[in-house]
Amino acid sequence: MEKVKLNNGLAMPQVGLGVWKVPLDVTAKMVATAIENDYTLIDTAKQYGNEQGVGQGIAAGLAATGKSRDDLFLTTKIFNGDQGDYDRVRNAVNQQLAALQTDYVDLLLLHWPVFNRYNTSWKALEDIYRDGQAKAIGVCNFNVDHLTNLLDHAEIKPMVNQIEFNPRIHQPDTVAFCQGQHIQLEAWSPLGNGQLLDNPVINKIAKAKGKSPAQVELRWEIQQDFVVIPKSTHAARMKENADIFDFSLDADEMEEIAMLDEEKHSIWYQKFKWSGNPDGVDDYIAKPGAY
Ligand code: A2P
Repeated sequence: MEKVKLNNGLAMPQVGLGVWKVPLDVTAKMVATAIENDYTLIDTAKQYGNEQGVGQGIAAGLAATGKSRDDLFLTTKIFNGDQGDYDRVRNAVNQQLAALQTDYVDLLLLHWPVFNRYNTSWKALEDIYRDGQAKAIGVCNFNVDHLTNLLDHAEIKPMVNQIEFNPRIHQPDTVAFCQGQHIQLEAWSPLGNGQLLDNPVINKIAKAKGKSPAQVELRWEIQQDFVVIPKSTHAARMKENADIFDFSLDADEMEEIAMLDEEKHSIWYQKFKWSGNPDGVDDYIAKPGAY
């Protein structure tokens, strides 16, 4: 598995398993299966309501393979309803670590740029990092304005920004800003929630390469130095999604796929309008697992 180096020197696997929208009772088996199939990066969030399942899956996966916690790269995120209060963030993280059955995560992210709250939340993340409860800290869904504001207040620069990114949504300003600042980009919904898998352009290139449409999409993303976290509950697809380091797309193929851009966020993104939206302030009290 290829790795990228974060701006604090930490190595992060370039492909991992996402568990968004996976029900709690399915999550443990899925995570154990992923570990048995050599996945090391697992990406969850309190918002998903399945951290406990991830913790159980990790315990089962490590027992089945003889691997240790240090072999994994575990990411979780701060729930919007916990943001904006230093103690609340710190207490939440203690509870999240307990659910995950670990005393540290490799990466801790602010899940959304909750209006007027993310700078206070970041202070807590900086101390969590200093105390060793997270080996790296970062954000998700931050645009250039959010990042500029955060950097004006931060003592520690985020190591990662996890954004919606796939052939249909490129967010070029955010991408350019993060690359200039050495903030590692990570793609959520790298397969566009599966909706691009029957696209004729992707399929034509997949056929030419002897690869699957999912592999072509993921390869297009890692060739732009993204970390990707495709979600699959099937072992065969997990293996397929990680098997993307033995071929490459040429400049024409990269461009052809880039032409699929609609610069349109998914419906899921639209549900999360916390970003800079004072009127959306009630939204962030949605319960974990509500989406
Ligand atoms: P499943 O979990 O049944 O495998 P994203 O990560 O962009 O949100 O996309 C996830 C969706 O893509 C899920 O519906 C998942 O279904 C599907 N998926 C993941 N990997 C593959 C693959 N290799 N081939 C086809 N569909 C896939």
